[in-house]
Amino acid sequence: MADYDFDVLVIGAGPGGYVAAIRAAQLGLKTGCVESRETLGGTCLNVGCIPSKALLHASELFEEAAHGHFDQWGISGQFTLDLTKMHAGRKDAVGGLTKGIEFLFKKNKVEWIKGQGTFTGKDTVQVGDRTVKAKNIVIATGSSVTQLPGMTIDQQRIVDSTGALELPEVPSHLVVIGGGVIGLELGSVWRRLGAKVTVVEFLDQILPGMDEEVRKEANKIFKKQGFEYRLGTKVTGAQVNGGGVAVTIEPAKGGAAETIEASHVLVAIGRRANTEGLGLDAAGLQVNNRGQIEIDHDFRTAVPGIWAIGDVVPGPMLAHKAEDEGIAVAENIAGLTGIVNHAIIPSVVYTTPEIAGVGLTEEQAKANGEVKVGKFPMLANSRAKTNKEPDGFVKVIADARTDRVLGVWMINTLAGTMIAQAAQAMEFGATSEDIAYTCHAHPTHAEAFKEAAMAVRGKPIHV
Ligand code: FAD
Ligand code: NAI
Repeated sequence: MADYDFDVLVIGAGPGGYVAAIRAAQLGLKTGCVESRETLGGTCLNVGCIPSKALLHASELFEEAAHGHFDQWGISGQFTLDLTKMHAGRKDAVGGLTKGIEFLFKKNKVEWIKGQGTFTGKDTVQVGDRTVKAKNIVIATGSSVTQLPGMTIDQQRIVDSTGALELPEVPSHLVVIGGGVIGLELGSVWRRLGAKVTVVEFLDQILPGMDEEVRKEANKIFKKQGFEYRLGTKVTGAQVNGGGVAVTIEPAKGGAAETIEASHVLVAIGRRANTEGLGLDAAGLQVNNRGQIEIDHDFRTAVPGIWAIGDVVPGPMLAHKAEDEGIAVAENIAGLTGIVNHAIIPSVVYTTPEIAGVGLTEEQAKANGEVKVGKFPMLANSRAKTNKEPDGFVKVIADARTDRVLGVWMINTLAGTMIAQAAQAMEFGATSEDIAYTCHAHPTHAEAFKEAAMAVRGKPIHV
């Protein structure tokens, strides 16, 4: 340790970095964490998962109250929107959680080195006027919004996800570029609060990467909620004009251009790894053709002593994936065996209803071999029906020969919570029979998972 300031230096304090730092400290390693933001928690806590979920929750309450859902149960009244107060609730959630990480750093004796970190060698990082030398360095610098060429994000009229979380007024017409997770979640927030929302998506369906049937069902449900789509369409320009933005679109395959008048535009076409200004050259590292840092199974980069995790490495850009990698990399550095099963990482879209999946899609599973699929509609689930939440289904995809569950996909109001059971079952190598013979409490949405598993092997009871 003689020459080193730290056993472990983590660059970036997002869900990957802060978790890695805390776990390394818990394992007895002297740990520092470099973070340039004013607060800890990275994209997720400051401008991602947490503030978006705060607004999703609040806007859902507003829609239920103001748009008649409560009324179905005999609860009525005058409901008004105080957007300033809603934003205050969002800021409060973010403030509480980011302060919580600061507390955990202090509790675990992780030193927060404030500032931008830049490699000056394989084991040295410059932060302001401080040179820090560490035996192990973990790159956890996360990702940033992908810019659309020719379009300037001014965070007033043309915003990215960060700007869309802070709009001071409800847009009259929000054009969302990109029908992925951010477009649908933040599009939902503003639609519920009164905006007209048009989603322009390059591909011919929303939510690429998800199970086809789920994508189609989601499309149908969101359309019913009032979303407008321009699928198979690309945006070729956007001109801010006084009170709005003129967005020029044309068919993705070519054809006549058209202009949509929007009050605001949200650019949500993906995110890319943060490596700019990191001095990777000085460390002897290179990025791949997608700008990411390549790693091996143990999160080692090509340079001994340098590790990488989270959004900056290949794989889904998800907070829970980054967190699990944070724990695993710290354990590997400490000489333990840190493992993340990348085949079983759930993904959730926090719309209403929620959309969730884990493992293979039906299309991927079928490409690998023969499968059996069981599906159960929420309309036939007693609790969902009672709650007047009939949209969606649960689908279980199993290997036709071994019955082992290969993937689970679902749309329903509690899908984000229910998917944990599917992930755990798959982690334990469950068959559809194991799930079908597991007693599920009644009446719960989770019974739909059991009945979908029953459907793999024959008939469920309630359809
Ligand atoms: P980040 O969270 O991006 O953190 C990296 C940190 O490193 C940043 O704080 C950055 O300031 C810092 N940094 C970068 N370079 C340097 C440097 N050179 N020196 C010092 N500091 C540096 N995922 C989910 O799983 N669920 C969700 O509900 C969800 N919602 C999202 C909503 C939105 C609007 C967005 C944008 C993202 C959402 N995500 C969600 C994705 C999630 O935020 C990311 O996958 C996650 O934050 C990645 O964690 P990370 O630690 O790899 O990087
Ligand atoms: P995304 O990859 O989910 O979706 C981007 C969409 O934009 C795709 O459908 C793509 O086809 C489309 N697109 C790309 N270029 C286009 C163009 N020029 N014109 C029109 N459409 C175009 O990316 P998104 O929504 O920006 O989210 C970024 C990341 O953040 C995702 O990887 C996601 O994992 C993460 N995230 C996760 C959340 C969650 O877990 N609930 C919530 C929000 C973000």
